[in-house]
Amino acid sequence: MRLNLVLISMIAEIANNYMKIFSTIVDIRAFLKNAKLKGQRIGFVPTMGALHEGHLSLVRASLQNADITVVSIFVNPTQFGPAEDFEKYQRDLQRDSALCESVGVDIIFAPAVDEMYQPGHSVMIDESVLSRNLCGRARDGHFSGVLTVVAKLFNIVQPDIVFFGQKDAQQVRVIEQMIIDFDYDVEMSVVPTVRDTDGLALSSRNLYLTAEQRAWAPVIYESLQKAKLLYAEGITDVLVLRKTVEPVLLGDGVEIDYVEFVSWQTMEPVEKAGDDTLLAVAVRVGETRLIDNVFLQSIA
Ligand code: PAF
Repeated sequence: MRLNLVLISMIAEIANNYMKIFSTIVDIRAFLKNAKLKGQRIGFVPTMGALHEGHLSLVRASLQNADITVVSIFVNPTQFGPAEDFEKYQRDLQRDSALCESVGVDIIFAPAVDEMYQPGHSVMIDESVLSRNLCGRARDGHFSGVLTVVAKLFNIVQPDIVFFGQKDAQQVRVIEQMIIDFDYDVEMSVVPTVRDTDGLALSSRNLYLTAEQRAWAPVIYESLQKAKLLYAEGITDVLVLRKTVEPVLLGDGVEIDYVEFVSWQTMEPVEKAGDDTLLAVAVRVGETRLIDNVFLQSIA
């Protein structure tokens, strides 16, 4: 009898150590409620799947800073415009789960669209200042979709600490402001952009690039580095800095969406670059839109 009890508790312990995948809000809430009661610190990495080393760097940061790491995998329809890549966005839960399990994720939350957006859903979050420029200009409604889904995910997971990548700098800033404005009791950690060996920032959308486009793409980071070097030499005039970036980005089938020098706090363009200036670029390479950014203040 006693042996049976020991065996049962050993099996329960082993089962607890396996990664769990939840698809409903009720189930993940019930599980996390228990974790909270035990005083466990919850780390959260929201993603849309198609995971790569950039996402895994967020997961690793969470594993170091929290007791339980939750990754959400949800291709959020409300952040895609009608002409964008919602349909073609890679969805491979088996692949993404295997990757998550290999690095030690505890929980995946992978809801269906109608679990996150029930029939009759009509309330969206709108940010009207920080999302005006950069990607907000080209992607109408994008940040409203991002903020709405992130707020919903925060409410479901109730994390203690959340992890976002610097690559989506404007997204980081807008979510940071939502955390302040909506009094979320959560810490935000921003993890540096992970790059391929040739400098291209990792992105799920790099999968769309043809071999030729992929060979061209490292110039995006080269252009940012050029501006950083000039800034380090004392050039702060944005007109001059911009002139070093734009020519590097010219290429066959390449369209510059923006090259902007903005204040990190306000996301408004500046005329003179300073240490809090973010240089952000977006380019269309054929059908694919790529973004990247750097702060000007350090050479690294
Ligand atoms: O950065 C992303 O992958 C998405 O915008 C996010 C934050 C998961 C919201 O859907």
